[in-house]
Amino acid sequence: MTQKLYIKTYGCQMNEYDSDKMADVLRVCSGMEPTEKPEDADVILFNTCSIREKAEEKVFSDLGRVRPLKLAKAGLLIGVGGCVASLEGETILRRAPYVDVVFGPQTLHRLPQMLQACRTTGRPQIDISFPEIEKFDHLPAPAFNLQNPIVGAQGQRFVSIMEGCSKYCTYCVVPYTRGEEVSRPVRDVMADILALIAMGVKEVTLLGQNVNAYCGVDEEGEQVDFAYLLQAIAALQGIERLRYTTSHPRDMTQRLIDVYASTPKLASHLHLPVQSGSDRILAAMKRGHTVLEYKSIIRRVRAARPDICITSDFIVGFPGETEQDFEATMKLIDDIGFDNSFSYLYSPRPGTPAAEMRCDTPPEVKSARLIRLQERIAQQEDAVALAMLGSVQRVLVEGTAKKDALELAGRTSNNRIVNFPGAADSATSQAMIGSFAEVVITQVVRHTLRGELLTPNTALKA
Ligand code: SAH
Ligand code: SF4
Ligand code: F3S
Repeated sequence: MTQKLYIKTYGCQMNEYDSDKMADVLRVCSGMEPTEKPEDADVILFNTCSIREKAEEKVFSDLGRVRPLKLAKAGLLIGVGGCVASLEGETILRRAPYVDVVFGPQTLHRLPQMLQACRTTGRPQIDISFPEIEKFDHLPAPAFNLQNPIVGAQGQRFVSIMEGCSKYCTYCVVPYTRGEEVSRPVRDVMADILALIAMGVKEVTLLGQNVNAYCGVDEEGEQVDFAYLLQAIAALQGIERLRYTTSHPRDMTQRLIDVYASTPKLASHLHLPVQSGSDRILAAMKRGHTVLEYKSIIRRVRAARPDICITSDFIVGFPGETEQDFEATMKLIDDIGFDNSFSYLYSPRPGTPAAEMRCDTPPEVKSARLIRLQERIAQQEDAVALAMLGSVQRVLVEGTAKKDALELAGRTSNNRIVNFPGAADSATSQAMIGSFAEVVITQVVRHTLRGELLTPNTALKA
C-alpha cells in the first residue's frame, strides 16, 4: 500500500517552498503520497520556524499532540526539519524522544535515505549540516509539482534563487539556521523556470532571505547580480509577471531600481523590510543603513514605477526603543505610506547579540505601540485600496473566492486580491483560473477589493 506523508509547515515562504520539495523528493524516491490528515500518515514531518519564541514553542506543543499517534501506529515515523531543527539538533530528541529524524533546511533532499536508515536501524537520524547548494542537485525538477502543487496558486510558482543570510542582524536567528548566503547558478534557475513555463506557469516569485543579494554565475562563469537575473527571466517568453521576496535595503542597487523602469513584467510591489524608523535602533539592529537611505531608495523606486506598493516588516519594542524612537518609526510610516506590513513585538532569541541587550520598556507599553503601528498601517492599506477604485487591473486568476465558489479571485500587480464574478457558466469561469484577466475595481470593503471582468475573451487567450 502507498505510504502516506503529512507535512505541517511553520514560518516563511522559504519553508513553504522547502515543504513542497520534501513532498516531491519523497514522492519520487520513496513513492509516498501526501495526506491532509496526520492520523492517516506513515510519516509526519514538521517543517519548523524559530524566528520568534512563540513559533518555536508551538512546534513542541504540536509534537506533543502527535505523540499518541506514534503509540497507536507501529512504524509511524516523526521528523522535525526547518529552522528549529537546525538550531536545536539533538536537543529536540531530549525534549521529544519519540522523534525519529531531525534534518535541516539544507539537508531535506537526504530525507528518503534518513527515513530508510531509521527504519532499518531503529535509531533516530540527525543531519543538520549545511552542504552548500547541494540540495538543488538532488531534488526532482519542478515538473513534478504539477500533480501536487502545495505551494503557489494556479498559474504561479515560487523559485528559490538563493539560500541563507550573511547579514547577522543582532536580533535574528536566520544566519544560524540557514547558513550564509549562497546563490544558485543562473543556468539552474533558468532550467527550473523553463520547466514551469512548460507546465503553463505564467508568474514566478523568486525566493530567498535576501534575494537582491543574489550573486550567481552565468554560463560563462561570470558573476552576475540580481538585476541581471530579473531581466534574463523577464526576457523569457511565457513569463508574464515576476515577483521576488524578501529583499534588503542594503542590496537595493540603482541597477535593480532601474529594472522597475525598464521591465514592465516586474510586478508593482516591493516588500522592503525597514524594521524601525529610528537611526539609533537601526544601528543597534546592525541593519547597515539609515532612515534617510531607506527613504532615498523608496523615492527612486517610485520615480521608476509611480504606482508601486511598498510593504515592510517592523519589529516593535527592540531593546532600548524609547518613545522617541517609536515616534520616529511612526513618522517614517507617515512619510512613506505602506500598503501592509508584517509587524511583531521583538522576541529575544538565545544566542543572538540582542538577547544580551537590556530593555526596561514595560511589555504593556510595547504592546500599545504595536497596536498603534498596526492601526496606522491598516489606514494606509485602506487608502491604497480606495485609490484603486475605478482603475483597471490586470490580475492573475488564482482560483475561486474564499467565501463564494462562484466568484473568482485574482492577484493584481501590486499584490492585492480582487474578487469578481467569473463568466456566466462555471466551466468557462474555471477555465480562466491560471490565466490573466482585466478587471475594473468597483468596490472596496475595508481592505478587500471587488471588481467586474472587462475582457473575458482576451482573458481566456492570455
Ligand atoms: N531577510 C529579511 C527578513 C527575514 S526574517 C530582512 O532582513 O528584511 C522576517 C522578519 O522577521 C524580519 O524582517 C523581522 O521583522 C522579523 N524578525 C526576525 N527576528 C525577529 C525577532 N527576534 N523578534 C521579532 N521579529 C523578528
Ligand atoms: Fe535576519 Fe537580518 Fe538576515 Fe533578514 S537580513 S534574515 S533580519 S539576519
Ligand atoms: Fe522562520 Fe526559518 Fe523562515 S526561522 S521565518 S522558517 S527562515
